[in-house]
Amino acid sequence: MSESESEPKYKLGEEIRKEFYLDENILFVNHGSYGAVPKRVFQKRQSYQGQIERCPDIWFAWQLKALYDENIEALAEFVGADPKNIAFVLNSTTGVNTVLKNILLEPEDILLLNSHTYGACAKTVDCAVKRAGADIMSLDIILPIRSDEQLVDQLVEVCKRHAGIRLVIIDHISSPSAIVFPVEKIIRELHKLGVLVLVDGAHAPGQLDLNLEKLGADFYTGNLHKWCFAPRGSAFLWVNKKHRDSIQPLVTSHNYQQDFTLQFFFQGTMDHSSYLCTKESLQFMRDCGGMKGIKDHTESLLDWAQQMLCHALGTSILPIPPSLQAPYMRVLRLPELKGYNCTTASEETAHSVMDVIKSYSVKQEDADNLTDYLIREHNCIAAITCFSGHLWLRISGTVYNTKENYLALKDILLKMKAE
Ligand SMILES: Cc1ncc(COP(=O)(O)O)c(C=O)c1O
Repeated sequence: MSESESEPKYKLGEEIRKEFYLDENILFVNHGSYGAVPKRVFQKRQSYQGQIERCPDIWFAWQLKALYDENIEALAEFVGADPKNIAFVLNSTTGVNTVLKNILLEPEDILLLNSHTYGACAKTVDCAVKRAGADIMSLDIILPIRSDEQLVDQLVEVCKRHAGIRLVIIDHISSPSAIVFPVEKIIRELHKLGVLVLVDGAHAPGQLDLNLEKLGADFYTGNLHKWCFAPRGSAFLWVNKKHRDSIQPLVTSHNYQQDFTLQFFFQGTMDHSSYLCTKESLQFMRDCGGMKGIKDHTESLLDWAQQMLCHALGTSILPIPPSLQAPYMRVLRLPELKGYNCTTASEETAHSVMDVIKSYSVKQEDADNLTDYLIREHNCIAAITCFSGHLWLRISGTVYNTKENYLALKDILLKMKAE
């Protein structure tokens, strides 16, 4: 996004909330899961859908393509991509599937994921290797993480030990733990070993400044419908020029064997309107003060919120260096809450076999139950995640969040602790 920002149009915090449809009776500190679409972006989409209905034939024949191209251009500029290397896809899951279902794997190949890889993408990897009779490996990300190098070294080490590793899928920002993986260093080091890197940037656009051509991954997919305020069903797949000819959309259609970007356009009769709102979404961000304005509001708010929550609940933040913390999501260890087995002996203090067994008795199911309970009993939408044998609270912050939101969350959790 060009940072020759005009004056912000909106005041962030309580005031901008009226620009969203969010229910005022709900405490919403989970923008990270499904985003929230500003009214003006939603209405833009509706206006396109209205135009389609007035005369579908004229729309598809004469209007759609030019609008699509304009939005590809705007997207490419925003993420630092050559427009020839990027295409719209419905979501990051589709981006990951597109890559993994195009790569021709041999039975001796191994695909590497890790213990923080998003579940649906891990299943996609499993599906790809099963079809080829290839193998899958998962690297356990060990806590605490003390530096970028620790993560890079762990990955390099495993790739050196297993020469069959053909491709590594790595999140730019992990979902359960909100860790910013040092993908630039990872790509550089893994390329030295001849390993392909697919970056799952589902959470990155809008949180991190991107320059995809400079980053130089093999493949990069990212969502616009999380942190860029685009309508749901709006994401992209970027493919390094050297692989462009070997990647085709999952759906073959009219533009078969055309240029990369064009092949992804018009995969049968469909609603392209979410993609056509990219420019409007990016303009909304500019009107919030751009990446810098949003960051100024949100980062200090979350720094404060995580301290406040840790202090009040007697718990700690995820043990990672600040440089690896996602700008708009923070993760803290859940304290023991009445009726929920949330936290157990940490790895550092697990002295007995029983400690270890107990720590691994915490499951995703417990996280889901607690998430449901917060919604049902407290109208509170917060993400509860599960990794390293613990339950964690992942809080999000964005343009409409305020200190009061996190204070209300604290009161709910304190009540649960005391019950
Ligand atoms: C790291 C990661 N990858 C992929 C996805 C899937 O995104 P989508 O449902 O938009 O495909 C998510 C969703 O939260 C995610 O966090």
